[in-house]
Amino acid sequence: MSAETWLLLVVVLVLLWTYSKWRHNYWASKGVVSPPALPFIGHMKYFVIGQRWISLNKFYRELRNHKFYGLYEFFNPVLVITDPKLLKHILVKDFEHFVDRRRFGDQEGSIMTEMLGNKSGEEWKDLRAVMTPTFSSGKMRSMFHLICEKADNLVSFSLKNAVNNRPVDMKDMFGRFTMDTIASCAFGIECNSLSDSKPVFADKAGQFFNFHGLKALKMTFMIVLPKLYNFLGFKVDDPQIEFFANLSKKNIELREKGERRGDFLDLLLEAKASENDIRPGKKVFGEQTLVAQSVLFLVAGYDTTASALAFSVYNIARHPQYQHQLRQELQELVKEHGSINYQGIMEAKYLDAVLMETLRLYPPATVGERMCTKQYKIPGTDLILNPGNLIQFPMWSIHHDPQYWPEPKEFKPDRFLPQNRGSIISFTHMPFGMGPRNCIAMRFALMEAKVALAQLILATELKLAPGHEKLEFEDSPFLMRPKGGVMLLLTPLKKE
Ligand code: HEM
Repeated sequence: MSAETWLLLVVVLVLLWTYSKWRHNYWASKGVVSPPALPFIGHMKYFVIGQRWISLNKFYRELRNHKFYGLYEFFNPVLVITDPKLLKHILVKDFEHFVDRRRFGDQEGSIMTEMLGNKSGEEWKDLRAVMTPTFSSGKMRSMFHLICEKADNLVSFSLKNAVNNRPVDMKDMFGRFTMDTIASCAFGIECNSLSDSKPVFADKAGQFFNFHGLKALKMTFMIVLPKLYNFLGFKVDDPQIEFFANLSKKNIELREKGERRGDFLDLLLEAKASENDIRPGKKVFGEQTLVAQSVLFLVAGYDTTASALAFSVYNIARHPQYQHQLRQELQELVKEHGSINYQGIMEAKYLDAVLMETLRLYPPATVGERMCTKQYKIPGTDLILNPGNLIQFPMWSIHHDPQYWPEPKEFKPDRFLPQNRGSIISFTHMPFGMGPRNCIAMRFALMEAKVALAQLILATELKLAPGHEKLEFEDSPFLMRPKGGVMLLLTPLKKE
């Protein structure tokens, strides 16, 4: 290379570096503390490599005495909120300024674009209002017997797999259970994952959530640089999404011919039929809206709850004293009510505490997000957020902060018993998010998980399989999932 070419190269590099420095000065110029950013990529390294919640926790530990700090996804600034009181403002009191999340998979005609979680502004409000009644107490009660049926299948199938002291992968069992449950409760589809040796539905959903290697990179690219992603012609909907979309379309066609079950799909169809009467001139339902919500429920209903259940049985298998206590509570319930019933499950305090503590330690969704939709001055500061600014709340880090949770790494369900709940600081436990945009299916997911845990604990003794004493996690920028499953030995209990 000639001297001129070298010189030109150096000038270009210096210019690029200066540009990067200038863009990464955004937070400093607003007086917001921010850890050193790498040229161009900012803090993206921590997004892509390893387990994102662990990488991001490094910043949380260093900076949590500030109520917030700034990071950069390439040049895009993100404000991380650590202070629970400020979170209450953003997620609840001043929600009108933070209605949206970042839209991901935003591509003309894609199913992902139409999902509730990706909708913004008025469109989100209308769709959420239509979907909320699906999870009312009445609906929960009416679904209870279906969930019990699937939980019975879960127990029999798990025990069948446990013969001759064979270790059973409980993450796999729970994945089959959650798939059968959501498919049946929401759509009346019987997919029999708990009897098939090759469960097609659960496998497809499993593949969708397999965020390893290239797929993790592709997803990160799609989320962080959506315009470039679309420009390069990459497709947003995975083949698995298409599989579930085709299935949903067929199911919707059947319902439109008259078949009714009173489930989630019927509710959406009714809302679609009457949308003109309810909101004259406003359209909540486009071509794909129904299909997209069906797919969303099938995939969202599968992995989060299955992981929460797998983490729960890991914890109780590891702590026989808590397992014993839980079994005692459930046996007393059965004595009182004759069987596991809705009221009993909802009142079981120790069962609730075990799940809540599991979700504190291992929240399947580790980081929450909102987008500023209306200019906002952060209370008690001069910092102004503008529409489009992203904020994040590091749920995993807050759940593991010794300031709020003494001995944060220890599994101590007693923290969530009614007599101790008073000392939990608000907005330090939020596995389902918080405020009007929290998890729409929280009550359903909790009921489903409680029924499955209860049936299993009443039927079998759980022990960690030798060689599987340590819980490991998949490397993931998104969801927290057990790596290699959760292997347990199950010993059937004699019926009293
Ligand atoms: C243990 C199980 C689950 C956990 C831990 C969980 C967690 C979450 C979290 C953290 C959010 C974001 C909340 C926020 O931003 O404040 C969310 C949103 C959502 N979840 Fe769940 N979830 C679970 C089960 C489910 C199930 C079973 C379904 C469907 C049947 C579901 C459907 C949704 C939907 C549709 C949203 C988006 C809500 C919106 O944007 O309005 N989730 N979930």
